[in-house]
Amino acid sequence: MTHKLSVLLLLALALHASPARCDDIVDGGPAPETTVEAAKHGVDIPKFEPYAVPDAALWEQFTDVGAPRWKRSQATKKGEKEARYDGEWAVEDIKELVGVEGDKGLVVKSQARHHAISARLEKPFDPSASGLVLQYEVKLQENLGCGGAYIKLLTAPLKGEFSDDTPYTLMFGPDKCGESKVHLIYRHLNPVTHEYTEHHLSQPPTPPIDTLSHLYTLTIHMNNTYAIAIDGSERRTGSLLDDFDPPVNPPKEIDDPKDKKPADWEDNEKIPDASAKKPADWDEDAPLMIPDEDAVKPKDWFEDEPLLVPDPKAQKPADWDDEEDGDWAAPMISNPRCADAAGCGPWERPLVRNPDFKGQWSAPLVDNPLYKGEWAPRRIHNPGYFEDHGLYKLSKIDAVGFELWTMQSGITFDNIYLGSSSNAAALIADNVWKPKHDVELAISEAMRPKSPPAPKPGFADVLRMFKDRIDEILYGISTFYSVLQSEGVVSALRQERAGAFGLLMVTMALGWLGWNASIILGFVYRLVVAAPAPPPVAAANASTDNDTASPDSGAKADRKAAKSD
Ligand SMILES: *[C@@H]1O[C@H](CO)[C@@H](O)[C@H](O)[C@H]1NC(C)=O
Repeated sequence: MTHKLSVLLLLALALHASPARCDDIVDGGPAPETTVEAAKHGVDIPKFEPYAVPDAALWEQFTDVGAPRWKRSQATKKGEKEARYDGEWAVEDIKELVGVEGDKGLVVKSQARHHAISARLEKPFDPSASGLVLQYEVKLQENLGCGGAYIKLLTAPLKGEFSDDTPYTLMFGPDKCGESKVHLIYRHLNPVTHEYTEHHLSQPPTPPIDTLSHLYTLTIHMNNTYAIAIDGSERRTGSLLDDFDPPVNPPKEIDDPKDKKPADWEDNEKIPDASAKKPADWDEDAPLMIPDEDAVKPKDWFEDEPLLVPDPKAQKPADWDDEEDGDWAAPMISNPRCADAAGCGPWERPLVRNPDFKGQWSAPLVDNPLYKGEWAPRRIHNPGYFEDHGLYKLSKIDAVGFELWTMQSGITFDNIYLGSSSNAAALIADNVWKPKHDVELAISEAMRPKSPPAPKPGFADVLRMFKDRIDEILYGISTFYSVLQSEGVVSALRQERAGAFGLLMVTMALGWLGWNASIILGFVYRLVVAAPAPPPVAAANASTDNDTASPDSGAKADRKAAKSD
């Protein structure tokens, strides 16, 4: 177990410390013969044509016009020169299950790496002006075992290289590692403390995990409601006030921290009855157990027989020297007369429970006339209270970015819309996503075997499940390690998933240390403290010393034993 863990740990460190490549986005070149493939399945694949969206803060189809604004993060690890995000990105043609010929997307190219990329908006976007609509496509070209595919809207003013420290206004999109969910997290500026706090959607919907293009849409309305749709159908709607954890508005009243429990506060509901007296016949000294007066000594109990007698069969060895070895005496054996008897030696009555036993007397409990109930501190107005009814007025946005860790490459983003028009987003869904999705569905339908084999969980499925678990563990360890490096052990242990792995790692490490320490201590103990074990022959003889069933043993050891008696 500990060995497996060390292997995983080393692997995680190796992944983390692998040399960074700081080249920019690579161009993945044209798609494979998609037309050939499509003809094979008899499906018409439309050619890519750019789609125009007016009045968008961002509309990104990864054409030659839009792609250059995407910049890979050059952030370095804290206090080091090494790149923090060594995962590669490409703007390239879709290769798996192509729904539109020549359609490009932004593709995650590395496995088990941290990836970060962002694009600046032409001008900052202000959600308070007219609400917010964010929509984008995710296509898992190599499916997904463990990894993120969520988008971050980066708070203005954007400073420095994009990293996980970069303040974001909102984070939205699918994530899978173990359980899969569609995150929705917004950061809210507390008007009293002037600090940002993260608020997570408490019951996030589940994303589809397959190789089709899926459309994620988030709408923040100006009445503080939100709506999440996947593939154009509404999956979650509600209030920015009620559905998030922790809630934005703090409680109106809190316990007064200055209020202390008075010294004379009576919180004992019952007290001993002061007027009660110990009854005259209550004997506190009566013992719990007494000898059983009804017991009778068994007939075959021989009080005069000793428990041990000299062995009558023993003989003085021929080489016994009275001068040197002292007077010979036969070794003692248990008295054979006692073997079948009830017992030998003095007989004692067995003990039974004393019917007169009462124990310590204590007064019965009665209601406490001074009882005031459970003490609780005074409630006061919460000085940190505020009521924000303008939650939709989220912080201004300067850029969009993806900051992800993933075990699988091939996560592809496309058709990103940021703006305030639900109508524009719906038109994009109908004109861009829907036709592509329909073609993808038609192809995957055509590729499906005509008579599907009976579904039985194949070895591959089990293997994939196993691989997913490993991915999950690696993700946890990697995250734990990177947070540990940048923010310290407390933050690392607080991580949602990684913290558990961290705790496990710490526990395992302590266990490993403890185990090795005990082995070393045991070794030292045997070496230094314990006497060396006697050689085997001597040991066998030593055991016959107490074993009275070897009367003809004439060894010197026997004599020594007899002498000492
Ligand atoms: C909030 O506003 C949206 C858009 O105007 C509307 O569809 C929705 O019904 C409103 N919700 C509530 C609770 O008023």
